[in-house]
Amino acid sequence: MNEKDEVKRALVQAADAARFAPSIHNTQPWRWVVQGDRLELFGVAERQLHEQDPGGHMLLLSCGTALHHARVALDAEGWRHEVDRPAGEPLAVLRPVERIPVAPEATRHFQMLQVRRTDRRTVTDEQVPEDTLRHLVKVTEQNGARLHVLGRDQVLALAVAADRAQHAEDGDERIAAETAAWAGGDRPDGTGIPASVLPEEVPLTTVAERDFHTTGTLPAGDGHDAAATYAVLYGEGDEAEDWLRGGEALSRLWLAATEQAVSLLPLSGPVEIPFTRQTLRRMLGDVGFPYLAVRLGTLDPATSAPPKTPRLPAGQVIDVA
Ligand SMILES: Cc1cc2nc3c(=O)[nH]c(=O)nc-3n(C[C@H](O)[C@H](O)[C@H](O)COP(=O)(O)O)c2cc1C
Repeated sequence: MNEKDEVKRALVQAADAARFAPSIHNTQPWRWVVQGDRLELFGVAERQLHEQDPGGHMLLLSCGTALHHARVALDAEGWRHEVDRPAGEPLAVLRPVERIPVAPEATRHFQMLQVRRTDRRTVTDEQVPEDTLRHLVKVTEQNGARLHVLGRDQVLALAVAADRAQHAEDGDERIAAETAAWAGGDRPDGTGIPASVLPEEVPLTTVAERDFHTTGTLPAGDGHDAAATYAVLYGEGDEAEDWLRGGEALSRLWLAATEQAVSLLPLSGPVEIPFTRQTLRRMLGDVGFPYLAVRLGTLDPATSAPPKTPRLPAGQVIDVA
């Protein structure tokens, strides 16, 4: 194979691996275009949650996780690459530069990308060890964002914020209809959240998980969140590029957590509602912009992970120009 074909193959593979990326309500709001020796990432307005996420923040975080996933795949193939994040569309452009030896951690990250998933069951009574938390904070910092671990009082403030955000979204008919279109029921088309990964009942926890108001079939366990750690992913900016970078950091953080057998559950409601987002911002001492609240915890190794959430076929998210 000549170098040109090799690059093209690597780019298609990277875009394909990015299909594993997490996204708000599994909307997968991205499209990749392989353009010569470049891979371009675009946001897809038809798969934006226009009611719940009018500013596109969750779309950008989701596209950021896809961008990071594509980069992990290039690393695992031994391609040193450049990334450009032009302000606007495309959101990002990846360009392989040269072949380099594959680093062992690149292979591990690539494996984690296929193992990682959202687990909405309750966590165990075992806390995430301090040194693991420190590692996760460091990894986030090295990847363009920050992670603020909440103290006890702040967890209670987050619990109130999560309730208020849920209440605000439940009270908005258009948001409720939008959620119903993406969660529960049978979804053969590879988007949205199937009943198999949603709890039978929303667990009773201090900080409530998102209630999708649909019957799930996942046994959630009889635990709670007394031993969970809550944290806020945040960054220095509030522009589109900052949210995209926030998504890249989220992906890196989530893969690192998966590697350490730590479960990460995103709680985006409090960030979506401006009033509760302000509460989160105060928790950061008004110095940064909150992107996402997350629950970190340990899972019972004796129980098996929930089923995988399906994805759109490659043909619907990748164009080869
Ligand atoms: C930006 C973002 C926000 C999310 N917010 C929530 C949330 O509030 N509640 C929840 O249960 N899952 C949330 N998720 C998880 C997605 O629903 C999940 O990634 C998607 O359904 C795909 O499933 P998977 O992560 O198991 O591959 C969020 C994910 C992302 C990337």
